[in-house]
Amino acid sequence: MSESTTIRWEQDETGVVTLVLDDPDQSANTMNQAFTDSIAAVADRAEAEKDSIRGIIYTSAKKTFFAGGDLKEMIRLRPEDAQAAFDTGTGIKRALRRIETLGVPVVAAINGAALGGGYEICLASHHRIALDAPGSKIGLPEVTLGLLPAAGGVTRTVRLMGITDALLKVLLQGTQYSPKRALDSGLVHELAATPEEMLAKARAFIDANPESRQPWDAPGYRIPGGTPAHPKFAANLPAFPANLKKQLNGAPYPAPRNIMAAAVEGAQVDFETAQTIEARYFTELVTGQTAKNMIQAFFFDLQAVNAGRSRPRGVEARTVRRVAVLGAGMMGAGIAYSCARAGIEVVLKDVTAEAAAKGKAYSEKLLDKAVAKGRTTEAARAELLARITPTADTADLAGCDAVIEAVFEDTSLKHKVFQEVQDVVAPDALLCSNTSTLPITGLAEGVDRPADFIGLHFFSPVDKMPLVEIIKGERTGDEAIARAFDLVRQINKTPIVVNDSRGFFTSRVIGQFINEGVAMVGEGVEPASVEQAAAQAGYPAKVLSLMDELTLTLPRKIRNETRKAVEAEGRTWTPHPADEVIDRMVDEFARPGRSGGAGFYDYDEAGRRSRIWPGLREHFARPGADVPFEDMKERMLFAEALDTVRCLDEGVLTSIADANIGSIMGIGFPAWTGGVIQYINGYEGGLPGFVARARELADRYGDRFTPPASLVAKAERGETYAD
Ligand code: NAI
Repeated sequence: MSESTTIRWEQDETGVVTLVLDDPDQSANTMNQAFTDSIAAVADRAEAEKDSIRGIIYTSAKKTFFAGGDLKEMIRLRPEDAQAAFDTGTGIKRALRRIETLGVPVVAAINGAALGGGYEICLASHHRIALDAPGSKIGLPEVTLGLLPAAGGVTRTVRLMGITDALLKVLLQGTQYSPKRALDSGLVHELAATPEEMLAKARAFIDANPESRQPWDAPGYRIPGGTPAHPKFAANLPAFPANLKKQLNGAPYPAPRNIMAAAVEGAQVDFETAQTIEARYFTELVTGQTAKNMIQAFFFDLQAVNAGRSRPRGVEARTVRRVAVLGAGMMGAGIAYSCARAGIEVVLKDVTAEAAAKGKAYSEKLLDKAVAKGRTTEAARAELLARITPTADTADLAGCDAVIEAVFEDTSLKHKVFQEVQDVVAPDALLCSNTSTLPITGLAEGVDRPADFIGLHFFSPVDKMPLVEIIKGERTGDEAIARAFDLVRQINKTPIVVNDSRGFFTSRVIGQFINEGVAMVGEGVEPASVEQAAAQAGYPAKVLSLMDELTLTLPRKIRNETRKAVEAEGRTWTPHPADEVIDRMVDEFARPGRSGGAGFYDYDEAGRRSRIWPGLREHFARPGADVPFEDMKERMLFAEALDTVRCLDEGVLTSIADANIGSIMGIGFPAWTGGVIQYINGYEGGLPGFVARARELADRYGDRFTPPASLVAKAERGETYAD
C-alpha cells in the first residue's frame, strides 16, 4: 500500500472523513506523482475502513483548492507513461472512481480555485459546494494548453450536463467561471459565504444523503439530451462558436477535435470504457508537439514574462495612484477604463470637455454591458466611473504620478502635449507614449526628463487585449522601465520589454505577415485562398481584411519614412513585392481600406464588410499563377519568424519568452505554435529543418526568406532558442 503524503485523513467521531489536500512540498496542490500515490492510498484505506465511514469531504489547506495537472511532469511524459498515469486500471482515474463508488456520500468543499484536475476531483464528488471567494475560478481550461481533462473530466461533464453543454460550456472553450457563474452553469450545486458555512453545508449534505451516489451510477440513468447516433454529430452542434469553427476548419489545433471525439464516442459506451477512450485521446495530445508548444508558451513563458524576467533588478516597486491619460479617442478611452478598473484614479484629458466626456462614456458603455451580463454590480460600476475625471483643463492633471499619452500620431503634437503637462504633473511622474510607430528616442527629445520617458504600446481594443509592449528609448532609465513594467502589471496586463526600433517588435513583425498576404495577391493568387491560408495556418484574423482595418495608406507612410531613414544611413533600400499592390490599390483604384469605404473588400453603407472586391481578380490575375497551399501558409509564418530572428539579432528583442508571448498575445501569431520562436524550435526537423525550408522558400519567393546567419549557425551547433 502506498503512503498518502499530500492528502491528510481527518476523521471525526461521527465518521465523517475530511480529506485535506495539502502537498507539503509545493505552494499549491497539483496532480503530480505524489498526489497519484496519495489518492490511491486514500482509496485503499477508505475501502478497508468503509464500515466506519459515514461520508467524505474533499477540501484543501492551500489558498487554492487545487491547481490542476503538473505541467512540468506533463511536458516530459512519454506515451507509455501518459497511458499508465491516466489509465482506468492504475492511476488517478481509478482511485477517484473507487472513492466515488464506495457507497458513502462524497462532497467537494471547494475553498478556492479548482481548475483542471482540481475540478475533476470535484466532479468525482456527489455534491459540490464552492466558497464564494473573490478571484476564485472553476473550470476545465485544458484545451487552452492543447490538452483535454483526463482524470474523468470529459466522461463526467458529458454525463452531468449532456454532450452539447459539456462541450460548449466547459470543455471546448476552457472557460474559467467565477463561483457565482459556476453555480448558474451547473458546475457546482451551492455556494457558501465562509469556510465554516461551506463545511457545515457539506456535513448537512452527508446527514441528509446517507445513500448518495452519482446520477450516472443510478439505475435507468440516461445522458441528458440523449446521445448522438452519428459520430459527426458534434460538427453540427447548434450554437457552435465561430472561433471554434475556425479552429476546427483546418487550423492545426488537435485538442478541440480530440475533446469532441472523446465526448461523442464516450457517450455511447459505459463509464469505464468512456474513461479509457478519454485516456487514449489525452495520450495522443500530451505527447504531441502542439501541447508542448502551448504549455511552453502559456505556462512557462507567460509566467517568466509576468514574473519580471525583463524588469530591471533592484528597482523598488511603486504603485501608481493617479494617472493622466492624454487624448480621449479610441485608445485613450480604453486605457482610462483599464486603469480605472485596476483602482487607479484617472484624469482623462482631451482638447474639449465634450471629447473628454465622450472618452469616459466608453467606460459607461462597457460597464453597462458587464452589469447586464451579471459580470459586475451597479455599485462597482459607479465606483469605477467615479475614478475617471474627464477634463479639458491641464491644471486638473496636478499630482498625477504617471502620464499616458494617446493623442494623434504626430511627433510635433506629442512634443507639444508633453511640454504642456510635464510641469503640472508630479515632478517625478513617469512619462509614457502610446505611439504605435514613432521612435521613442525621437519623442523623448520633446521632454525635459528623457530618462523618465518610455513607450507604452497598448493594443486595440484595450479592454480585451492582454499585452502591452514597453519600448525603451536610448535615454530611458532603468527606473522608468521598472515603473512602466509595474504599471502594466498593476492594470493586470502582460508586459514585454523591447528596444526602440521602427515599428518596435510587434508592429514590425505583423507587417511581415500582412505584406506576405498582399504580395500573394500581386502574384495572382486567388484572394479567397490567401484568406483561407491565413485561417488554416491558425491566424485569428484574415490577412487582407486586417490590412483593410489598418488602412493601406498607413504602411505606405511608414514605408516612405523607413526608406528615407535607411537611405539617409547610406544603406540600400529593398522594396517588398507588396508595395506595388498597395500603391495600385490606393492610387489607381482609390481603395485605401475600410475607413475609406473600399479596400481589398467591398463595404456597405454601414461600413460592414460585404465581399472580396471582384476587381482584385481582374487586375491582379496572372495566368498560370500557382503557389502551393502549404507554401502560402508557411510564407506568412516564416516571414514573421524570420523577422523575429532579425529582431533578436538587432537587440530589439532580448528575451525568447517576450517574443513568444508578444507574438501570440499582441499580434495574433497562431497559438498552436507556442509563439513565433517556439515555432522555429518545434518545426519538423528542428532548427535544421526550419533553415532548409526557409532556403527553399527563398529560392522560390525571394531573398526575404534567406535565413539569417545567426539562425544557420545555431542550427549547425544543434541548439534551440532558449532564455
Ligand atoms: P484617436 O484619433 O481615436 O484619438 C486621438 C485623440 O486625441 C482625439 O480624441 C483627439 O481629440 C485627442 N487630442 C488631439 N490633440 C490633443 C491635445 N492637444 N490634447 C489632448 N487630446 C488631444 O486616435 P487613437 O486611435 O486613439 O490613437 C491614439 C494614439 O495611439 C496614436 O498615437 C496611435 O498611433 C496610437 N495607437 C493606436 C492604436 C490603434 O489601434 N488605433 C494601437 C496602438 C497605438
